[in-house]
Amino acid sequence: MDRLVIRGGRRIEGSVQVRGAKNAALPQIAAALLSFERLELGNVPEVTDVDTMLALMGEFGMVATRGSGRALALDAREARNAVAPYDMVRRMRASILVLAPLLTRFGSARVSMPGGCAIGARPIDLHLKALDALGAEIDIEAGYIQARTKNGGLRGGRVVLTTPSVGATETALMAATLARGETEILNAARDPEVCDLALCLTAMGAHIQGAGTHRMLVQGVDALHNARHDLLTDRIEAGTYAVAAAITGGNLEILGAHLEHLGSVGAVLESTGTQIWPTDRGLMVVRSGPLQAIDVVTEPYPGFPTDLQAQFMALMTIASGASVIRETVYESRFMHVPELGRLGANISLQGSTALVRGVERLHGAEVMATDLRASVSLVLAALVAEGETTINRVYHLDRGYESLDRKLVQCGADIRRVAE
Ligand code: EPZ
Repeated sequence: MDRLVIRGGRRIEGSVQVRGAKNAALPQIAAALLSFERLELGNVPEVTDVDTMLALMGEFGMVATRGSGRALALDAREARNAVAPYDMVRRMRASILVLAPLLTRFGSARVSMPGGCAIGARPIDLHLKALDALGAEIDIEAGYIQARTKNGGLRGGRVVLTTPSVGATETALMAATLARGETEILNAARDPEVCDLALCLTAMGAHIQGAGTHRMLVQGVDALHNARHDLLTDRIEAGTYAVAAAITGGNLEILGAHLEHLGSVGAVLESTGTQIWPTDRGLMVVRSGPLQAIDVVTEPYPGFPTDLQAQFMALMTIASGASVIRETVYESRFMHVPELGRLGANISLQGSTALVRGVERLHGAEVMATDLRASVSLVLAALVAEGETTINRVYHLDRGYESLDRKLVQCGADIRRVAE
């Protein structure tokens, strides 16, 4: 297990390239199972979660071939129905996204329940309700979801989501694509990654309206065809680099980033005294003045993304004043708090609210990564901590960031990766 050794005190400057979104790649790889023809994805990030999803696809006989320039060819012509085993599903919750394509393609599916997660209970009830609304019969047996269709497959229907769940919207969308008739998805998630899945499915021949709004309409089609689709760039990766520039008082051009994908993040960063504006190649982020503390509440898109909460908290640890951060999407996404405390941050927790009192400076220490976004918040804090910080278990980081340490070093950081 690798660890990172970071010596703080350097500004992050220059430019960095962000790649395709992990949270767009995972559902689209699963969606390839819906087709008897090839799907070619472009701009696929080299992160371990993608490898984990491809390993699961291997269980179903899908052939995945990585090409040059982050191309990925997916061939499910010879796919076979198989069980999505606990041992694979427990490693990555997004594995649940194979349920709808398997059920749609084979008329039945047996997928392990995902099990616990560091950031919250994360139930999958909305995924199952969505499939039930399209005519599936679902049982839970021995920790496995056993789903089957009746009378020749799924049929169009009305899916009403009690919360705009990203995953449940994607499950409903994939199932509706080949269901007989029309499906209406209400209170759908509006995230850019959901829109990108809709674009990919449309390139494969699906009929989808309303992506990016709370009401989506899908006309089922008989079959999908071969297609090519480039993944949108990763707004969470872009937001992470924006915080790296803001926390170090640097100036950074983030190539491939889109301000509109960042939703309210742009305005939030500006309120801290950081300038952010679009360029021809992406986004420019500069902070030269004092860093102001401000409050944030995480919400479904286009609200402030929960996947940037930990990074933003790291920023607030050295801001002048106090910041109240409320996490409303997950019930326990504060694993980074005690670790930031080891670096000298002053954070108190009350249920789903954190009060961050800005300190003069942080100090290097040995810390432990616990999940993907918590681990990157430790990297950001270490960039400004006095002395050396050692971050253990950075495999969490590699799940969703492509070469983060190498990219930060290219922008001026002092980081060494130490293989254990
Ligand atoms: C996606 O997870 C992302 N993962 C998460 O990113 C992200 O945090 C999340 O959306 C919210 O933006 C991927 O896209 C692979 P949800 P997902 O269903 O789909 C509750 C990262 O760091 N809920 O929108 O699992 C749930 O408990 C990861 O890259 C139900 O109650 O998120 C949560 O509180 C972490 N029942 C809320 O909805 C359900 O059936 C939002 O979850 C489903 C969800």
